[in-house]
Amino acid sequence: MSKVVIFGVKDFAELAHYYLTTDTDHEVVAFCVDRQYLPESGQFHGLPVHAFEDIEQTFPPAEYQFFAPMSPSNINLARAKVYDAIKAKGYTCISYVSSRATVCHNVIGENCFILEDNTLQPFTTIGNNVVMWSGNHIGHHGSIADHVFFTSHVVLSGHCTVEPYCFFGVNATIRDGLTLAEGSFIAMAAAVMKKTEAWGVYRGNPATKAEISSKDLKY
Ligand SMILES: CC(C)(COP(=O)(O)OP(=O)(O)OC[C@H]1O[C@@H](n2cnc3c(N)ncnc32)[C@H](O)[C@@H]1OP(=O)(O)O)[C@@H](O)C(=O)NCCC(=O)NCCS
Repeated sequence: MSKVVIFGVKDFAELAHYYLTTDTDHEVVAFCVDRQYLPESGQFHGLPVHAFEDIEQTFPPAEYQFFAPMSPSNINLARAKVYDAIKAKGYTCISYVSSRATVCHNVIGENCFILEDNTLQPFTTIGNNVVMWSGNHIGHHGSIADHVFFTSHVVLSGHCTVEPYCFFGVNATIRDGLTLAEGSFIAMAAAVMKKTEAWGVYRGNPATKAEISSKDLKY
């Protein structure tokens, strides 16, 4: 059981609070945002909201842990920056893995948010700051790097390598043995048959590469 500060005061933070309080022994002690986003009330869900800039004065890293599951905007680069800033202050982050996920002794990094009905097959490793929304199939003997985001009902077949910052839209399907290069954006319902190029956007069945970089995509 840890005392946990949650980063954010929007949907993801509210969901993190819900899952931690209903499905873990962790105690959520506060929320935290950049100073410019502090709410006037100074509170969220009945807990204090602190400025990130001086959070360690009230909640020192030796006694408190952080949790910062955030939305995948800007191909996960924004939430990676927040995670790195939390680490730079010396904090350890917890990971949440739903009691209703199926996990097979997988190595899972920190600050991961793995919701209900995910199936993680054996011998697949999960990096840091990975989000898996509900209901994904993560195949065996794979490797998922840091800052990757799975929405829902993605099928990642066995022996796949997923490089940092990749995003998988709802119902995406990935053929076995593929490497998804850094920052690949896989659109909803895409069926990926071949390895992808870094920061590419792929959609359709079979998936083809769009003209736009994932860094320029608005979603
Ligand atoms: C790739 C994506 C961002 C494109 O969105 P967009 O830029 O708003 O695209 P638009 O709706 O403007 O559509 C542009 C064209 O691409 C087509 N298109 C859009 N998404 C498509 C997709 N996933 N597969 C195939 N074609 C698609 C549209 O039909 C449209 O074609 P048209 O010009 O012939 O009419 C979007 O498809 C996507 O995958 N978003 C992620 C959704 C998601 O998983 N959300 C998670 C919720 S939990």
